[in-house]
Amino acid sequence: TEQQSRIAALVSDHQAQPGGLLPLLHAVQDELGHVPDAATPDIARAFRLSQAEVRGVLSFYHDFRGEPPARHELRLCRAEACQSMGSEALAQRLRARTGLDDAGRSADGGLELRPVYCLGACACAPALLLDGELHARVDAAALDALLAGCLE
Ligand code: FES
Repeated sequence: TEQQSRIAALVSDHQAQPGGLLPLLHAVQDELGHVPDAATPDIARAFRLSQAEVRGVLSFYHDFRGEPPARHELRLCRAEACQSMGSEALAQRLRARTGLDDAGRSADGGLELRPVYCLGACACAPALLLDGELHARVDAAALDALLAGCLE
């Protein structure tokens, strides 16, 4: 597939570099939006590592993802100021409304919820980022309005 040949090209760009594994993984994620698990055996072979070692690196750095991103990413602040202003209740409301699975994805693939620990908007807690855009002083009604725009 086209995806496989892109990955193969990136592997050959990086494989001779000392410490090339991390730059390679970043390059794959930048291009494809994720690092497909199916690519692990080829990557491991190219870097003379075991598949477990490659998976270990992928899971150590939380920014890597094994599947394509959802259409919308919602990062709800879970740090202290937002916690004290009700971010946990927002998280519960989100789960109830969207049926998120354990990985934080809605059943239709429309939304993924990920935590973040402080968005620098503590004075306007609780805060969240929806597709990179900051929303502050989010209450239940504001959350519902944001969700309505994400879920069909
Ligand atoms: Fe949530 Fe700082 S604690 S923005």
